[in-house]
Amino acid sequence: MVSPIVHPQEPQGNRLRETLCRLEPKTQRTYTPSLALLARSSGVFHWTPDGRKLYDLTSGVLVANLGHNPVTWRERFLHYLGWSGSSVQDRHGFFEAVPLTSYNAATPVEVEASRRLIACLRECAGSQRLEKVLWAASGSEAVQKALWAALARDRSRDIILATRYGFHGKKGLAGATTGCETDPERDPRVRFISFPREECCDVSRRREPFDPLPYRRELEALREQFGRRLNVLITEPYLGGGGSYHPHPAYLRVVQDFCRENDIILVLDEVQSNFGRTGRMFAFETYGIEPDVVLLGKGLANGVPGAAAVGPAWLFDCLDYGEGSDTYSGNPLVCAAVLATLDCFSDGAVLENCRRVSPLIEAGLLGLKQFPFVRYVRGEDGGMVWGVEFGDFGSRSASQWANEFVLASYRGNAREGVHLLGPLAKKVVRIAPPLVITSEQANEALRIMSEAAQSLLES
Ligand SMILES: Cc1ncc(COP(=O)(O)O)c(C=O)c1O
Repeated sequence: MVSPIVHPQEPQGNRLRETLCRLEPKTQRTYTPSLALLARSSGVFHWTPDGRKLYDLTSGVLVANLGHNPVTWRERFLHYLGWSGSSVQDRHGFFEAVPLTSYNAATPVEVEASRRLIACLRECAGSQRLEKVLWAASGSEAVQKALWAALARDRSRDIILATRYGFHGKKGLAGATTGCETDPERDPRVRFISFPREECCDVSRRREPFDPLPYRRELEALREQFGRRLNVLITEPYLGGGGSYHPHPAYLRVVQDFCRENDIILVLDEVQSNFGRTGRMFAFETYGIEPDVVLLGKGLANGVPGAAAVGPAWLFDCLDYGEGSDTYSGNPLVCAAVLATLDCFSDGAVLENCRRVSPLIEAGLLGLKQFPFVRYVRGEDGGMVWGVEFGDFGSRSASQWANEFVLASYRGNAREGVHLLGPLAKKVVRIAPPLVITSEQANEALRIMSEAAQSLLES
């Protein structure tokens, strides 16, 4: 058994962590030095079973964009499900509401969620390209279904292009398009293309001129090699799990132009960026592109597990009955949550807050560069997602500093701390608070992190 993580101020949390280690394998979670035990949450806060307050700078994992447990969201969610207190009850102990099934059947709430989602995407895109919703139960499954549809359109066109060091999930074709060509057990159909990293390694380089030509040439070389076999290209708008690299928009436009010229389906994986992360509803607006297929997840249902691929009818109709179906996709629980989430975004206040507080957080994160182990800060201009990259310093490696920073921030002081995820790409700490965070809350969280960094320097 792996020895459980122990925190000095958390006797109850420690007991639960110890039990957890006995009952669940370590692979259930990605490594984090803190392994937070979260008893309750509200807005940007979590509380541990011992009553410690944590500022959540992760939004779960970029899921709770509206914050945890928003009252209006709950009201709307219960309304769409028919779970409000006034539901009709019978004498056998049941109440009338939407059934929790979507298999070989559909519910009005699913139809409404598809309609509203498409309407929202079309309005944001300013075009009618996106026509059908293919629901999925997780982000990886949305990736898988979109790529299956692309491959089904012409079986002789077998090559999938994916941006190197991207993250699309772990299962099936999502796993095959994640990472790079040196990973073991590669799928020979997947070819990786470069994604700018050096040019956008720090926010200080954001306004520098960007030369897209080398990227264009690389794509052309692949066309020379594979010709019509090139079928589909999948990319994230910014590399999320790969270390938070936010490219110059010209990069994504080159990719889009190449796809259009060569009848290649452009799949934009917005599982992480959708619902406001970049300061707009969708990252395709921020980056000025119009993908053929958009993949949605995480913030889509503000924490209820659901995802979707949205794309042209002719493409998704290449898959026959059942080829894209499973037990949970399109479940009314998710569809009600999607509708509630759309309602909460509809007046624009959440996005406005995101854009307003974003510069304050960015300035605070740049302040962390005063510490010799903080190397780069990068993120979305006006959005709510950054990566703080640590470097080797003294006798400790970048990865050690990053992990120690996560731990010290979590431990904070006896009463409060900051909840962060285990580092991305071993040395990049992700900062992604709920979009509803206030300036005051952001300042407090930044102060705790700065004190944590100072304590590391002194240790
Ligand atoms: C861009 C992107 N695509 C796909 C996924 C996979 O989503 P899921 O974990 O729901 O399968 C993730 C998860 O982090 C992601 O960030």
